[in-house]
Amino acid sequence: MERLIRLAADDELPALLAFFSRAPWLATDIRPRDLEPHLRAGACWLAERAGRIAAAALVETQRHPVWQMQMVGCADLEALDEELGPLLAAADRAGQAAGAGPLLYIGDEPWLNGELPALGFATINRIAFYEREGRGLPEERGLALATLRPAAAEDMPAALAVDHAAFDPIWWNSAAFLAQALDEFRFVVATAGGEVAGYSLCSTYPGEGHLARLAVHPAWQGRGIGGQLVRDALRFFWGCGLTRVLLNTQQDNERSQALYRRYGFRASGPTLPVWQMRRDPEGAPGI
Ligand SMILES: CC(C)(COP(=O)(O)OP(=O)(O)OC[C@H]1O[C@@H](n2cnc3c(N)ncnc32)[C@H](O)[C@@H]1OP(=O)(O)O)[C@@H](O)C(=O)NCCC(=O)NCCS
Repeated sequence: MERLIRLAADDELPALLAFFSRAPWLATDIRPRDLEPHLRAGACWLAERAGRIAAAALVETQRHPVWQMQMVGCADLEALDEELGPLLAAADRAGQAAGAGPLLYIGDEPWLNGELPALGFATINRIAFYEREGRGLPEERGLALATLRPAAAEDMPAALAVDHAAFDPIWWNSAAFLAQALDEFRFVVATAGGEVAGYSLCSTYPGEGHLARLAVHPAWQGRGIGGQLVRDALRFFWGCGLTRVLLNTQQDNERSQALYRRYGFRASGPTLPVWQMRRDPEGAPGI
């Protein structure tokens, strides 16, 4: 039977929407009503069998240098066995050609996670979830070092530099994401010594606030600026009437977890594995 693996074209959005809406084997945390904007923003690789989509993977390609799989679907068990591997390898090769690191996937769908090791993926970390409820802050330690203010477009190059100095590349935000974040998040920068030393991103949902990002430049870490940003975020949420606050971080990031615990956050729920495709030294997927 004829099989074809290729990148989906822009005008295939309706077919992809139909496929992902009905695929019996589906791994994603995208809500059905958000599917369309994600499909428009990402790149989709698909495997066709006898002219029909048998498997597809949606990859977020904007967060250079990370290409992250956001959704994977298979029409049947045959596609899972035969088509998923070549499909993901093709997506990873395209990422490699575009200068991206190995394909990343964060998720805990049992059917997919059972397959991933055989497809060349290994768990490199886990995402830990934290939450806190109610008001109340720990005692402040000395004088606040940084000045906090709403971020402006002119701050973006400096905020990006903080982000890339603070995080490993697989967690980097892109310039495009930060520019968009000015509209979509409460975006605060902490300035110290006349420079941007850190930033935070907060978003609100019915009944809960999310501290979506916290970063302090390594040159400024350990001097209370992270704590200042957390206090500021909590006060913002309380001002919105939200006393339940959620966040997540990497399981091996002990420093951030110590900070969050000091501010009353407690680990909640199971952790999520972070998978990365292995590449051999020449860059081919390691399968
Ligand atoms: C996690 C992170 C935001 C913390 O920022 P920070 O500015 O270093 O945080 P703080 O200085 O407020 O607190 C860290 C430590 O500094 C010390 N500290 C805090 N306030 C201080 C003060 N006023 N004077 C001196 N030292 C202080 C403490 O030892 C504190 O550790 P403790 O909480 O165990 O007591 C920062 O390390 C970072 O950007 N890391 C990389 C990105 C990251 O992990 N982001 C968050 C997870 S997604």
